[in-house]
Amino acid sequence: MYTIKLDATDSTNRYLKNLMLSNSLEDLTVAVADKQTLGRGQSGTQWLSQPGKNLTFSILKKFDNFIIDHQFHLNMVVSLAILDSLKAFRIPNLKIKWPNDILSDRSKISGILIENMVKGHQIKASIIGIGLNVNQTDFNGLFNATSLKLLLGRSHDLDGVLNELLENLSNYLKRLESGRFIQLTRRYEEALFMLEEEGTFQGSDGKMFKGTIKGVTKTGRLQVAIGQGPLKEFDLKEIKPVY
Ligand code: BTN
Repeated sequence: MYTIKLDATDSTNRYLKNLMLSNSLEDLTVAVADKQTLGRGQSGTQWLSQPGKNLTFSILKKFDNFIIDHQFHLNMVVSLAILDSLKAFRIPNLKIKWPNDILSDRSKISGILIENMVKGHQIKASIIGIGLNVNQTDFNGLFNATSLKLLLGRSHDLDGVLNELLENLSNYLKRLESGRFIQLTRRYEEALFMLEEEGTFQGSDGKMFKGTIKGVTKTGRLQVAIGQGPLKEFDLKEIKPVY
């Protein structure tokens, strides 16, 4: 893997995207930054991370034949790769909060932002952005954030954690490319936060309702049982677990 180390950039996702415009980059090129001045999260949010304490990086993945219908499987493999890496560091009670937040003991330790470059029905390349809280202990105000240090009581070498993550990710991407969709979905669903537990959700109209997560569809919609009715399916902007 070709790794570009940056002291600072606006966002490693944006950095890689811009670099791609002017250079032909190798598959699995990685950009990792000590500091992001405009770290981006899902749905237009910000990703805040204290400089030098955490991992903020992006990976370019090129595809030869990856149809857009399977795009959620990429979210699955990235989530699972992070989960397995954190398991190796003995992080307790790891779960994936749909669609792809990584939680330990209900607190968020890692977030993923994937941006796809699409041509026709194919995803030609994806920029996989990962933020992982490693040595930060003060999340002023963000009450449900955590880090390896908070959970394990000691600091970790950022390069060591990055290498573990990249190795797992490269293995999971191979499984994705060999089309193991059913097996990957099963593993993803097994790791889902609140699976088969009744919980409270907020719909896009702001109303709260009770439901039980049953799994995800092929396209990544969340399947929720509400009362005795048929399973309902939701997109990202249509539902938010309240916990
Ligand atoms: C989220 O949970 O909202 C997604 C967070 C993704 C953050 C990472 S940090 C590296 C990469 N560059 C960015 O600007 N965002 C992603």
